[in-house]
Amino acid sequence: MKEIKINHNRLISSIYEIAKIGKLPNGGVRRLAFSKNDLIAKKKIIEWCKELGLSLSIDSIGNIFARLQNNKNSTRKSIGIGSHFDTQPHGGKFDGAYGVLAGLEVIRTLKEKKINLEKPVELIIWSNEEGCRYTPPLMGSLFFTNTIKLKNLKTIKDSKGILLKDELSFFHKLDLKKILKKQIGSFIEIHIEQGPILENLNKSIGIVTGAQGSRGLNIDFIGEDSHSGTTPMNIRKDTVVALSNFVVDFTNQAKKLDKDLRATVGSIITFPGSRNTVSGRSSITVDIRHKDINILNKIETIIQKICQKIKIQFKVKAKIQKKYILPTVNFDSKIISIIKKSCDEIGYSSKKMLSGAGHDAVSLSKVMPTGMIFIPCKNGISHSEKEFASNKDMIAGCNVLLKTVIKMNRN
Ligand code: GLV
Ligand code: MN
Ligand code: MN
Repeated sequence: MKEIKINHNRLISSIYEIAKIGKLPNGGVRRLAFSKNDLIAKKKIIEWCKELGLSLSIDSIGNIFARLQNNKNSTRKSIGIGSHFDTQPHGGKFDGAYGVLAGLEVIRTLKEKKINLEKPVELIIWSNEEGCRYTPPLMGSLFFTNTIKLKNLKTIKDSKGILLKDELSFFHKLDLKKILKKQIGSFIEIHIEQGPILENLNKSIGIVTGAQGSRGLNIDFIGEDSHSGTTPMNIRKDTVVALSNFVVDFTNQAKKLDKDLRATVGSIITFPGSRNTVSGRSSITVDIRHKDINILNKIETIIQKICQKIKIQFKVKAKIQKKYILPTVNFDSKIISIIKKSCDEIGYSSKKMLSGAGHDAVSLSKVMPTGMIFIPCKNGISHSEKEFASNKDMIAGCNVLLKTVIKMNRN
């Protein structure tokens, strides 16, 4: 039988069209969760889904669902495919958007080629995957899987003091059916790898077996504001000095603890943030990731010990707050074999691998059979304006996704 293929020009032009929304000067994209750019991107995909005649709906956190149902009498649960449109502050064109638009291309192809699957296929655009504006990450998918509740999220603010519930109100004005419960039976997400493994091994497709665990902490350092010109060095309670020591010690100890541990201080805010005031309060974010829960527990203990040391050495207290814990997960073995089979049949080289990054598929794997497909990205760079995926790899990945969805319909 002749291989069914996606329309590659249509896929690539959709990706580059969405990349214009929130375009940055050095090739990247800034489309923060629940921002105006996020809303514009969602309006665009709603327009494309309406053109296809998909049945659209939205839930109370702004996740959007677009369902292709060929067999109107089918009671089968749908195959969910999708990812996210929100980006990091200096994000790339492909993180998330590729997964959404590859999902759309699969549905466009199924429709165009009149491939009538028994199971509905549902494109999903998850809200706030990145979590860089509003914590936690994977917010939309964690809400969908009942892991977090909306009432606890509405009052959270971004760094400018804007309430999530106010931003969300614009998404609630989208003219879409509101849903309460969805009948989704499985989920598959395609994404750029965001690391160097596939490129280094010269493989086309990553078959993702699971994802490492990650934890997010905030640490507030409390000292005392004072005058920079008059306060003697030995009596200061300077939170900038304290946090700088924390960062160096934490990074060095993390490197020694385990080579696979990832430990990052990504944001530092000092108050009042004035040249001539010794800073009496500072806040940092900490991101730690590893597949082994024991290593994560060990680095948390190290963090506590460094904070105790800092209290004595710099007279600065540290208040540690745990913001979220995402466990290490394994994806569905059946879906993993279907992806492998799809790669082999089309003739793409592949590699089974664990995801270092977090993805909405991690949330979904708790409640339904879930899988992920990776494609390489240049130099393994992501969360950067330099992020790049080639057309050839994006087309290959999308063809694997199409074949996988067709095979999942039979299972
Ligand atoms: C999301 O991109 C994450 O892994 O933090
Ligand atoms: Mn992503
Ligand atoms: Mn990301």
